[in-house]
Amino acid sequence: MVMNDANAKVFAYHEQSKNLPNRYARAPNYLDWASQPDPFRRYWKAPTVSLSRPEPTDEPGFAQLHQSGQIAPASLSAAAIGQLLYDSMALSAWKVESNASRPLRCVPSAGGLHPTEAYLLCGAVERLTTQPALYHYSAFGHSLELRAEFDFALWQRLCGELPAEETLLVGLTSIQWRTAWKYGERAYRYCQLELGHAMGAVSYAAAVLGWCAQSVPIADADLAMLLGIAGQAGPDAELPGCLIALYPRREYESAVQPFDGDCLEDWQEHLRREPPSPVSTSYREWPLLDEIAEACRIQQPLARPVGVKATEEAHAPHAGVGARGLLRQRRSALKMDGQTAMPWHDFQHFCCRLAPDRLPLNVLGQPPALHLLFFVHRVDGLSPGFYILPRSKDGMALLRTSLRAMPDWHKPEGMTSRLPLFELSKGDAQTQARVLSCNQAIASSGAFAVCMLAEFEQRLDDYGPGEYRSLHWEAGLLGQAMYMEAQALGLCGTAIGAFLDDGVHRLLGIADRKLQALYHFSVGRPMEDQRVSSLAAYHHLNKPVA
Ligand SMILES: Cc1cc2nc3c(=O)[nH]c(=O)nc-3n(C[C@H](O)[C@H](O)[C@H](O)COP(=O)(O)O)c2cc1C
Repeated sequence: MVMNDANAKVFAYHEQSKNLPNRYARAPNYLDWASQPDPFRRYWKAPTVSLSRPEPTDEPGFAQLHQSGQIAPASLSAAAIGQLLYDSMALSAWKVESNASRPLRCVPSAGGLHPTEAYLLCGAVERLTTQPALYHYSAFGHSLELRAEFDFALWQRLCGELPAEETLLVGLTSIQWRTAWKYGERAYRYCQLELGHAMGAVSYAAAVLGWCAQSVPIADADLAMLLGIAGQAGPDAELPGCLIALYPRREYESAVQPFDGDCLEDWQEHLRREPPSPVSTSYREWPLLDEIAEACRIQQPLARPVGVKATEEAHAPHAGVGARGLLRQRRSALKMDGQTAMPWHDFQHFCCRLAPDRLPLNVLGQPPALHLLFFVHRVDGLSPGFYILPRSKDGMALLRTSLRAMPDWHKPEGMTSRLPLFELSKGDAQTQARVLSCNQAIASSGAFAVCMLAEFEQRLDDYGPGEYRSLHWEAGLLGQAMYMEAQALGLCGTAIGAFLDDGVHRLLGIADRKLQALYHFSVGRPMEDQRVSSLAAYHHLNKPVA
């Protein structure tokens, strides 16, 4: 058990970065366009390899990603790596609005600021590299920028017990300044949520290739060293995020062990010296963000008592919509129509897919800590009102004692599945959904909205302040799954990071820190915004050279 004191800074940051009805989290009063962050980091002078951009096809279907043995693992190749990154971390379009265009990606991002950077470590791969290497991924060029080369023996050590010939490692970092530029002190939360979205996107894209994804417990100092960012300093320095192992067969799951930092002894010699591009020409300091980043540093890989094993669904007769198209076309609804209802069967299916052992939620490999409060507005066969979906037995027990304002739990009438969904209270949930989402109509005009409630104090007591990040990753993963599942059902989602943190607690009668609202989400039928048009993701690469 980690002493409570170690978490004091986390609680203080969380309090300070809350949106309250009478004051929102501290942020700039205006957008300083002179210091607008560059959304693309580059290692300009590094040798660069362009990756392929295979257009999505109907195969495999999205449903197949969730079924065992449906997709034969692709062999490791430059083309497969190109597809993996094209379907997860790449640009997906450019949004054009009043003569300005901004890039969109397969992952969502608060304010479209995209703080997440990705790195790839691999062994020798034909048409990519003759020896093991570390690359920075450039989303702008859909290319890999070389950061280090090393020998196979070292690559084997980096892979631990995983088979070095068949393994890839993906590292994720955050340039917090990009988000702080607009969102100030709430930026740390958004960056962590977005790491969760990126973990989800990488897991889905790996599943399309028949590969499995599992996060590797690793100390921050080792991750920073491994990704070549340890020497970065100043406001645009990257913060280490997480490391994900990709491998072709489920049976290797138990081979994913905490990363052994000893193998990085001579790593520095292999790293190239090109500096990363700066993000802005000037910066504003946010001391609270530095403090929380320091407080949440993962000093040593977190030991977990029980992992969550991945499970798959029984074979479905229809493969469903093409998975790759879905991944590349993920989009946030700007407005929802306030009319379309989701069929009850679809709603149950949506909820089932959010179980902790399902793709992509199983990438964390740890017991779930997040539970879902639904604000149901329009689901055919389900009365409007508030519903709770505990995602574990322990969570259910905690929720039962904590939701003091809603103690009467009922199984919804006509529920056929064994889903642990409970009705808390019938009635209009639209007003609460909107008000608690900082008055955003997107939360009340869909079929339903969700608030993700985290087991908070106990988790932090058990695992220390680094757990604060992990809770946000789980929320981001849930958000990514909701985007995909909503689109697979012909609807659309929108992540909602701006909400009144304590309002939900008051609604439910939560009076302590045992549970904490971390993220909102809305699902419904999107309405097209006529003012917005889009350009192809890589139109800029196809331009003829003048
Ligand atoms: C952490 C996070 C918080 C967000 N918060 C909101 C929000 O409060 N309201 C909203 O309308 N959209 C929100 N979004 C959605 C972004 O606005 C959206 O992802 C961004 O504009 C890019 O568009 P896209 O998702 O269509 O690619 C959020 C997204 C993330 C990842």
